[in-house]
Amino acid sequence: MPSRRSPLTGVTYMSHDPTVLSIPAGFTLGAATAAYQIEGAAAEGGRGPSIWDTFSHTPGATVEGATGDVAAGHYHHVEADLDLMASLHLDVYRFSVSWSRVMPDGEGAVNAEGMTFYSELVDGLIRRGIDPVVTLNHWDLPQTLEDKYGGWRGRETAYAFERYAEIMGQALGDRVAIWSTHNEPWNNSFAGYGHGVFAPGVKNHEEALKAAHHLNLAHGLGVQALRRTITKADAKVSIVLNIFRVEPETPDDADAARLFDTVANQVFTGPVLDGAYPQDLLTDTAAFTDWHFVQPGDVEICHQPIDLLGVNYYEIMHIRRRRDHDVSVEAMGGTEFPGSERVELFRPGGFDRTAMGWTVEPWGLENHLVDLSAKWPDLPIMVMENGAAFDDDVIDVDGRPTVLDWNRTQFLIDHLTATLRARERGANVSGYLVWSLLDNFEWAAGYGPRFGIVRVDYNTLLRTPKSSAQWFSDVCRTRTIPTIIATALPA
Ligand code: NOJ
Repeated sequence: MPSRRSPLTGVTYMSHDPTVLSIPAGFTLGAATAAYQIEGAAAEGGRGPSIWDTFSHTPGATVEGATGDVAAGHYHHVEADLDLMASLHLDVYRFSVSWSRVMPDGEGAVNAEGMTFYSELVDGLIRRGIDPVVTLNHWDLPQTLEDKYGGWRGRETAYAFERYAEIMGQALGDRVAIWSTHNEPWNNSFAGYGHGVFAPGVKNHEEALKAAHHLNLAHGLGVQALRRTITKADAKVSIVLNIFRVEPETPDDADAARLFDTVANQVFTGPVLDGAYPQDLLTDTAAFTDWHFVQPGDVEICHQPIDLLGVNYYEIMHIRRRRDHDVSVEAMGGTEFPGSERVELFRPGGFDRTAMGWTVEPWGLENHLVDLSAKWPDLPIMVMENGAAFDDDVIDVDGRPTVLDWNRTQFLIDHLTATLRARERGANVSGYLVWSLLDNFEWAAGYGPRFGIVRVDYNTLLRTPKSSAQWFSDVCRTRTIPTIIATALPA
């Protein structure tokens, strides 16, 4: 039975923990994607441009100038992709709506062709017994709203989001099982408007904090709009946060860890889940802003009751106080944030790494879920994203292209096991979704990193389920975690 040992804590972590070999009844399994990362057809079907179209077409913004113009071609392969999902026996499929596909200017006229695409996708899922999980904002803001209001820097964008949420609730609210307002607003605001490595490429800490606040406000307004319009009785409303698992290197680094937790996590969980921006946040960011953009009554709007907290987990954030201002810090998306001159995010040696360079630490997920549930005991949690990029080799088995991705499969075994162990320790965690169904456009990193359990050949758009897809399909079908991964190898 494989085991892993944390080089930091010495904790030994067993894969295939015999106590969690079964998937508990009612536990949700699925796979996730996002519109700009898979759809392509960027200028088809009446879709308007988004900030990611503009950004990815800006020279130097993405690796090798990659864009989402074609991506995984999902817009034109939707029927085949639905059949693929059915063959994987998914309980749910998480996708995002391209706001500029349904409302090309972000507000005003609805593009019927765009709306039909999502409505048929939802129907196609339900026909196959798969519940739709919909994200409204997975970063691809309509360009018009960037031009008119400064995007998320402008308060008006939060109100445009409210109207968009209302229109989506009216259109799909009779069928969608789970709604999420935003996906990872941290990257949306701090990487997009502060560090400038994501669209729209603005580098200004105050603008990032403004964007974060307007995302929080939009979340609250969006929840209210969904509640007004959705009619499916048991539909759930959520937000997906990449709340970071923050671990200080030594006790002397505790304040650095506190600072990162405040600026990266509590800037969202404060208003959205706890009903206030914490005083620490205002103090820690005082050199950059006086928070004048928070108007009376805003925080009450942000603080709406929600049914589910979506959590994305990839790795532990190891933190230490910055000792040497010349130290070279590994590039991590969103590393520059208010306070980053005092805090260092680092990746310790000794861990397995993914193709992104991220450390593989499944125990982080287990402990994180337990701690998050202890903090918000009444809020069910769903792991809305977990997965890994690895360099895949396509080999030929009996004349068929095959990808034997044991590393990704092992990663998923460990992290699904971690999720179920957390549940056994009392975490209120109700599901686990793999990122991603398909290889796709990994934002500024382009098409190099492959996160899919299904390979996409970007020349032919041919889909090839990898061994990890076979394994996940077995998990979903048998409701157990197979301990022996069988794949036909050439004799
Ligand atoms: C977070 C994002 O939600 C998703 O879009 C991205 O591709 C994955 N994590 C991997 O970086």
